[in-house]
Amino acid sequence: MDQLVNLTTHDGVAVIVINNPPVNALSPGVPEGLVAALDAAEKDPSADAIVIIGGGRTFIAGADIKELELAAAGRGSGPPEFHGILARIENTAKPVVMAIHGTALGGGNEVAMAGHYRVAVPDAQIGQPEVNLGIIPGAEGTQRLPRLVGVAAAVDLCVSGKPIRAPEALKLGLIDRVIEGDLLKGAVHFAREIAKEGAPLRKTSELSEKLGSEWVDASIYVAGRDQARRTRRNMLAPLKVVDAIEAAATLPFEEGCKKEREIFVECIQSDQARALIHAFFAERAVAKIPDIPKDMPVYNIREAAIIGAGTMGGGIAMACANAGIPVLLKEVEQAALDRGMATIRRNYENSVKKGRFSQEVMDQRMALIHPQLTYEGFERADLILEAAFESMDLKKRIFGELDKIAKLDCVLATNTSTLDIDEIASVTGIPRMVIGLHFFSPANVMRLVEIVRGKATSKPVVATALALAKKLGKVGVVVGNCRGFVGNRMMLPYMREAQLLVEEGATPEQVDRALYNFGMAMGIFAVDDMGGIDLAYRVRQEYKHLEKPGMRMPLVLEKLFHMGRYGQKTGAGWYRYDENRKPIPDPEVHAIIEKTAHEAGIPRRHISDDEIIERCIYIMINEGAKILEEGYALRAADIDVIYLTGYGFPGYRGGPMWYADTVGLKRVRDRIREFRAQHGEWWEPAPLLDKLADQGQTFAAWDAAHEHEMAVA
Ligand code: 3HC
Repeated sequence: MDQLVNLTTHDGVAVIVINNPPVNALSPGVPEGLVAALDAAEKDPSADAIVIIGGGRTFIAGADIKELELAAAGRGSGPPEFHGILARIENTAKPVVMAIHGTALGGGNEVAMAGHYRVAVPDAQIGQPEVNLGIIPGAEGTQRLPRLVGVAAAVDLCVSGKPIRAPEALKLGLIDRVIEGDLLKGAVHFAREIAKEGAPLRKTSELSEKLGSEWVDASIYVAGRDQARRTRRNMLAPLKVVDAIEAAATLPFEEGCKKEREIFVECIQSDQARALIHAFFAERAVAKIPDIPKDMPVYNIREAAIIGAGTMGGGIAMACANAGIPVLLKEVEQAALDRGMATIRRNYENSVKKGRFSQEVMDQRMALIHPQLTYEGFERADLILEAAFESMDLKKRIFGELDKIAKLDCVLATNTSTLDIDEIASVTGIPRMVIGLHFFSPANVMRLVEIVRGKATSKPVVATALALAKKLGKVGVVVGNCRGFVGNRMMLPYMREAQLLVEEGATPEQVDRALYNFGMAMGIFAVDDMGGIDLAYRVRQEYKHLEKPGMRMPLVLEKLFHMGRYGQKTGAGWYRYDENRKPIPDPEVHAIIEKTAHEAGIPRRHISDDEIIERCIYIMINEGAKILEEGYALRAADIDVIYLTGYGFPGYRGGPMWYADTVGLKRVRDRIREFRAQHGEWWEPAPLLDKLADQGQTFAAWDAAHEHEMAVA
């Protein structure tokens, strides 16, 4: 038997095991192996039934996304086609029972649904997450799923892409039994029962009771498309998947499958699918650091301590508690500590109210967070993370104190978003233990952590930070120690350009609308108002010395600051805010902008949405190219991951650097040259961008070429 698929017999049941680590994807060879095993099992007179199970940690986690990547790029032998194997499973003359543990996702669930029966362990996860890759289920999932769970549940599962656990799958009719204890044993037992009872070989493709009727289902499709537009803004696949499910309910099975195939092929050839598949692999590549092998020993973080119970410290404490790590949370004053703990409690209470977890879980998490005013217990901590006010003097003082308290193998982290890690580390006797862990607000929710590697940071400490990020359910991206690191360094010119645009003739709401329509989670002025104009102003003061001669600096922000318009917190900033914190365009701001422009002699003109996108996004790309060339990011794809997971960049555009590739680097560079001529030196194209544009290259190709010679500066 093929190594990817093995066949054995247990108690009169043929057991087919799929062994394609790490996740038993349906790579070439697996479907063929399955067919061969089914042929043999069917012929075996000693087997009355067949169980298909995954070897290792999981059932089948889906089609092989590497194959999909090739198909999306128009290479390889075209989009994978599973019709033959699914029909073969369904038409098997003996009962086929699918035994699920780990994840049955995408093509995995589609294979499972072709079986006659399905059983699963309680924590198995089952779902159709294809929309996350910009595609729809392409192995008859949109046709079989509604036949098993009904049209409404199928629409929800496919549009949301969210997996469900076995007990819910049982309720929906997606599986037939939850097996407590040993899955193989339970599945074999179940298969024997089925064979003994002579239960029918239930073919999902022939079921129709749950398909409803055209007029009842119509409102489900409308609601599904609304859900798609609301939760997956601007995306093609989530809308299209509803069309495919509609075909299941209105067409015979075979024709529905044809329709699904057409849509699947259309989606996989889209820019959105290419971008999202890039994002999938990029998110996994960030953990691969060339000089840090996978087996590098890491420090075990059993207990953490955090300094500062403000927004960041509190959020990080929650992230630790959510992952089961006990945390000491220190503040300097009782009032601040009480405020911090009250916020944590309120956040947890909201989650309980929304049904995200139970009161019991909340109590367990609260019990893991120990508020305190002293360093008591810090000598035990495996990780101490400083999340104090952004001031170098303060941070140096704290690290000086920590140097005396922390045990020698304690990882010392700072959550600074801008300050020099090496300077902070210099006050300790163990700079190799010092690292930046830049979380994003709200830290219990946002997935990104920039892991800032200082000059002296040791490799095991970097490996520990990566492992910790994974344990916290976050994406850790290793970056070098430059001003603003990667994310904020690119954010500054983006913000500056947006502000210059309003002084030249746009309005904050026009800029925000254009960025939002481009796909950004929020417009930049709304972001500014949320973060606080006082904060933006302070950052600006701190960066003043970096301003280059000839660089035009926007003027309005300072005026808003001096007027006390700090944003949402004062009810007014770039916008006015009502009691629901809804931003309302403010004529007063328009007047200030116009007056400022007039006084500064800036001619006002009509500004198109295209110009807004080009100026804001291209300046960011240009900075990204500099960061890459200077070695502060390992890969262009790392920059993409930072922007996708921490800055609300739309996934279906793949991140700023991927987006630049899709526009074409020559076109981006040429436009940047035009902006250079119109506006000034700060638009000088980054040398790397210039070079790649001349060579007709892409950032993705640059990544591939530099795979083996990367080191963070
Ligand atoms: N194809 C190819 N490789 C895959 C894969 C897949 N479906 N799923 C995971 N991998 C790879 C990852 O790239 C990673 O490789 P690496 O070690 O070289 O970086 C390795 O498997 C482990 O993956 P994770 O690091 O993500 O492991 P986790 O344990 O954190 O998560 C998982 C496991 C939940 C299965 C997660 O990998 C996942 O969500 N995978 C994608 C599932 C999915 O989207 N399936 C649908 C595919 S599309 C499809 O089936 C189309 C069909 O309708 C025709």
